[in-house]
Amino acid sequence: MKDILVLGIESSCDETAAAVVKNGREVLSNVISSQIDIHTLYGGVVPEIASRKHIERINQVIEEALAQVAVPLDRIDVISVTYGPGLVGALLVGVGEAKALAYAAGKPLVGVHHIEGHIAANYIEHPDLEPPFLCLVVSGGHTHLVQVKDYGAFEIIGCTHDDAAGEAFDKVARAIGLGYPGGPKIDKVSKEGNPCAIEFPRAKITGSEYDFSFSGVKSAVLNYLNQCEMKGVEINQADVAASFQKAVVDVLVERAVAAAKKLGEKRIAVAGGVAANSSLRAAMQDCCKENGITLYYPSPVYCTDNAAMIAVQGYYEFMAGRRSGWDLNAVPNLKIGQR
Ligand code: KG4
Ligand code: ZN
Repeated sequence: MKDILVLGIESSCDETAAAVVKNGREVLSNVISSQIDIHTLYGGVVPEIASRKHIERINQVIEEALAQVAVPLDRIDVISVTYGPGLVGALLVGVGEAKALAYAAGKPLVGVHHIEGHIAANYIEHPDLEPPFLCLVVSGGHTHLVQVKDYGAFEIIGCTHDDAAGEAFDKVARAIGLGYPGGPKIDKVSKEGNPCAIEFPRAKITGSEYDFSFSGVKSAVLNYLNQCEMKGVEINQADVAASFQKAVVDVLVERAVAAAKKLGEKRIAVAGGVAANSSLRAAMQDCCKENGITLYYPSPVYCTDNAAMIAVQGYYEFMAGRRSGWDLNAVPNLKIGQR
């Protein structure tokens, strides 16, 4: 069978990215231009700046992704692009670019759901992984437990009622003076701290065994910081970070493994930026091993935003016969599994 080369384009938040993937599994190039430096000045992503930076960078990023593989656009078979969810102005840059390229080069266009892309990142380094499996999605905007029934068929069995896990990491990092982006900084500083130093609450949502809530633990950290300040007690940044991280990780691991056991799933994949967290990976590994579950997670570079994952999901959508029309638009609140 002829090889299928997919060019993936991602611009939903603060990374401008393009990648070329062969047959849905082999990454030939993966170029990511991060805007972190500029957003760090503001303590978080500024949507309008993100859009402007995407428009500045996107052609060079795509050019680089093609140049690394030494194939002209002509040899690409499919163009796939994130069309939601995300920041509308940021998404529009990638969608507009992908449409223009596909139109000019006469290539099929496939719009991809960003979170479905995160899930698909697991296929890159695990050739044995195929649906069905259970996926714990933990990103900056999403915390979901998803049954991946097929490459394009998803059932959400649990989600957060308030903050996403990554959002909680970012907010707590800001509160303890670590700045943006919070997740990787908390991960790093926690290695020096005692995760049992402070007992933060493990929020349970009553009545829903697979749902999550992280605003309670975030508020508990903020209260703890206020109390320390009022009493004039100096905080131990590493202990606060490690204790907060443990409170989040404990709940994620417990719920994911409980869901897998109940549903009879023997495989769990973890996806999204927070899947790069070293403590989450270690705790998931231990708990899965104890319960006879095989755990999958992508390398850190494929956990956070990238276009390889969009090309992978784009490949499977393409093989299933799905094509986007010339009227493809950005959908900022696109739902998982929406077709
Ligand atoms: O998936 P992602 O790159 O973008 C979204 O789709 O949201 O996720 C970004 C989130 C941020 O909240 C960031 O703080 C978090 O992932 N993150 C981490 C780590 N690396 C990134 N959280 C915890 N530990 C990490 N090592
Ligand atoms: Zn993402």
